[in-house]
Amino acid sequence: MSEPALLGKVAVVTGGAAGIGYALAEGLARRGAAVLIADRDGAVAAAARLRAAGFSVEGIAADVSSEDDTAAMAEAAERLFGGIDILVNNAGIYATLTPRPFEALDVAEWRRVLDVNVIGTFLCCRAALAGFRRRGGGRIVNISSGVAFKGNPYMAHYVASKGAVVSLTRALATELGRHGVLVNSVAPGFTLSDGVMKNPVLVAGVKEPSLRNRVLARDMLPEDLVGAVCFFAGPDAGFITGQTLVVDGGAYF
Ligand code: NAI
Repeated sequence: MSEPALLGKVAVVTGGAAGIGYALAEGLARRGAAVLIADRDGAVAAAARLRAAGFSVEGIAADVSSEDDTAAMAEAAERLFGGIDILVNNAGIYATLTPRPFEALDVAEWRRVLDVNVIGTFLCCRAALAGFRRRGGGRIVNISSGVAFKGNPYMAHYVASKGAVVSLTRALATELGRHGVLVNSVAPGFTLSDGVMKNPVLVAGVKEPSLRNRVLARDMLPEDLVGAVCFFAGPDAGFITGQTLVVDGGAYF
């Protein structure tokens, strides 16, 4: 039997305590990586759940929009696992948003979304850079969204933030290639994550139409994203950088 593709690698998954991030943490661990879950809430408990299932996983409380927390996150990866090879920037504000016409969005809400989804991604990449350099390279996988390409009504700030994540992916790929760091992005379609399932407006308004507009006619689950993220993180993607892969079951729009 061949050994797991990510054996010996260390992965940090932001927002990994729930939803898509938790599925990604489990998927990376299943492929042999040691995983640090960094989440504002529930990181330690989520890590304990995965350890109980036999995986090498630790957790740290960290808000990705905080410079101090993201620095502490990178230090923890060094201290606990000796470094960092894979950074998955998954933490983002989506499921707690209330859809609103763009003229009803206020500046504070715009700033909150950009702070976490865009600046948070930047801060985590910056915090991980020294560790990547020490190890001679690394992988960054950013979670953007299909809405970056298709648009979506009543979430202008969110759509703009995920477009920025796609562009940031390309920008960092051009800068970090010389350090052996490959930067790619996965753009999910509407996914029944923990957060989404707690938002009755999204469940009532988006679940059924997204199912109707999808070639592969079933609900999309967090597990559906594991293959694409692990591909970008793994040995088969060693000459791919700056790309975004849409994973949405073939959404028509
Ligand atoms: P979720 O709400 O189920 O889980 C998000 C996790 O991120 C939670 O554990 C939360 O505590 C954590 N988090 C939120 N803000 C944080 C911060 N500032 N610092 C650290 N951790 C933080 O969300 P879901 O649906 O799993 O989304 C994950 C990512 O996927 C987000 O970036 C979202 O924008 C993106 N996405 C989700 C889609 C969906 O339909 N669920 C579709 C496209 C993209």
